Amino acid sequence: MAKTIKIFDTTLRDGEQSPGCSMNLKEKIEMAQQLERMNVDVIEAGFAAASPGDLHSIQEISKHIKNCTVASLARAHKDDIDKAWESLKFAEKPRIHVFLATSPIHMEYKLKMTPEEVLISSEKMVTYAKSLCNDIEFSAEDATRSNVDFLAQVFDKVIKAGATTINIPDTVGYTTPDEYYDFLTAIIEKCPALKTIDISVHCHNDLGLGVANSIAAIKAGVTQIECTVNGIGERAGNAALEEIVMSLNTRKDYYDIETRIDTRQIVRSSNLLSRITGVKVQPNKAIVGANAFAHESGIHQHGVLNNKETYEIMTPESIGLDTNRLVLGKHSGRHAFNDKLTQLGYELTKEELDMAFKKFKDLADKKKDVYDKDIDALVSRQKIEVPK
Ligand code: KIV
Ligand code: ZN
Repeated sequence: MAKTIKIFDTTLRDGEQSPGCSMNLKEKIEMAQQLERMNVDVIEAGFAAASPGDLHSIQEISKHIKNCTVASLARAHKDDIDKAWESLKFAEKPRIHVFLATSPIHMEYKLKMTPEEVLISSEKMVTYAKSLCNDIEFSAEDATRSNVDFLAQVFDKVIKAGATTINIPDTVGYTTPDEYYDFLTAIIEKCPALKTIDISVHCHNDLGLGVANSIAAIKAGVTQIECTVNGIGERAGNAALEEIVMSLNTRKDYYDIETRIDTRQIVRSSNLLSRITGVKVQPNKAIVGANAFAHESGIHQHGVLNNKETYEIMTPESIGLDTNRLVLGKHSGRHAFNDKLTQLGYELTKEELDMAFKKFKDLADKKKDVYDKDIDALVSRQKIEVPK
């Protein structure tokens, strides 16, 4: 039977830390609702201690989300943990996510703590977080540049203190798939208690290996993957949710792993995020780039016309893409227009739709074909309010 792994989405926390990707409250709620529609297991909604605005937005997101766990990040400080807990007070399924660095370079130059102090503080702060909330994730920041024996010791302590998920992140995107697999296998061997809880990975993309490392980690036995829509995140970004999910889907024959993601929501999520942040997806980006299902050369077009599988390893429909690429023009009806809006990540009320449809018809009278960018411009100009 296929094993199911959890998808922990950090678009609203690590993703938002990426330059040019900050979002206002309404945008965060809209994005969180789309993540829920896509069926992610966990939404990391923010870092409550970062600012009162962040704390407030986690509270508001928590009020709107019913089916996913909502996580709030905290350093291993009592004050941060209190703020995280305060931010989660309306959450149906709250998770406090405590992190502390374990690598020699971070301990010495950033934390100015000895390994012994890190060990004590991890245990103490997880114990404190557990006194508030049942669902506790602990992350050993910069794990892949940490000593394996030391990590095993830290994990033993925090699992005994009540951590229910242990995250072993590749914070600086330093590791490679083979090395990560060996590293995770060694830690699991040295700390058998890991097998009794969820093991998570969180891979950054500094060497372009975030997704490959996450897939290698699944083979080593991890049960949760942390990722972001379109791969946004600190520096070169985080592992991209759509690439991980579609790799596992497309190669289920080899991995026999499932996620709970509704893959037909992938394009909509990607478009919504791009629209909100104004950060475009590169055309050749895997899965969601504009060219991901485009065929230019005659040989490829000929192959695809005879049998799509000659050059397509997944169907456009499986990610929610309009396969026949309907071109909207003056003859198009309300239905096709509304379908296109949904695909572009818009959810309009009846009144907003009426107004937008009228504008679309006016434009279609003046222009032969109406493209996605025209519709984007048209609806954005209408200043549509985000639904509650
Ligand atoms: O990259 C990282 O290590 C993080 C942690 C806070 C999980 O973002
Ligand atoms: Zn990160």
